[in-house]
Amino acid sequence: MRRKLVAGNWKMHGLQADLAQLTALNATHPAPAIDILICPPATLITAACATCEGSAMQIGGQDCHARASGAFTGDLSALMLKDAGASAVIVGHSERREAHEESSEIVRAKAKAAHAAGLTAIICLGESLAQREAANTLDIIAGQLSLSVPDSAAAANTVIAYEPCWAIGSGLTPSPEQIGEVHDFIRARLTTRFGAAQADGMRLLYGGSVKPGNAAEIFAIPDVDGALVGGASLKADDFSPIINALESAA
Ligand code: 13P
Repeated sequence: MRRKLVAGNWKMHGLQADLAQLTALNATHPAPAIDILICPPATLITAACATCEGSAMQIGGQDCHARASGAFTGDLSALMLKDAGASAVIVGHSERREAHEESSEIVRAKAKAAHAAGLTAIICLGESLAQREAANTLDIIAGQLSLSVPDSAAAANTVIAYEPCWAIGSGLTPSPEQIGEVHDFIRARLTTRFGAAQADGMRLLYGGSVKPGNAAEIFAIPDVDGALVGGASLKADDFSPIINALESAA
């Protein structure tokens, strides 16, 4: 069985004082029945790891460069994130695909770099509203999946996050049927490419406006192994009920 995973993406939020949220989460969930990952801004990774030392909570990055080192001012390599204490890194988030014009080929190179550094790659996919309205969702997902996931992907090092762009930060979510359709499709494609043994072990997260109020409904959908949470991961009071909902579904 796949172990459930809830990941919090803090995006460009978080100062040292916000590490108190991690302290609160660790106090409330000392022995979780699921995996919990927080991806703070890179400036907080080392301090977050220190805050979570001895706890079950893992710390991850939000992006990495495809190269291990070099003259890339302002960028961070997967190896640097690993060195800072991260165990995972998000790649291909729609905010990076859009604002930084990252193609699926770039995302694949980043995921490959994450694997080479010993990090779990959380590879994000998702359609725009126009693409969904044009009934192109599965075609878009198929294309992003085949181009963004490197051959180095395996159950132990890869998580796929389905995040419809229109659901992120909007308060909108797809119906359970729509989420289930995409997750089943992703699982089938992964099975064709990597074989059942690997594909059955890869966790598929849903992301986009997951809140305490809708988490239980989303986690009841077959093939949803957890969530990638933005806004509701910033405060322990919001994230904690989402953790509880996923534990109940586990
Ligand atoms: P929200 O949960 O704020 O909609 O963000 C989702 C997201 O982008 C997580 O990566």
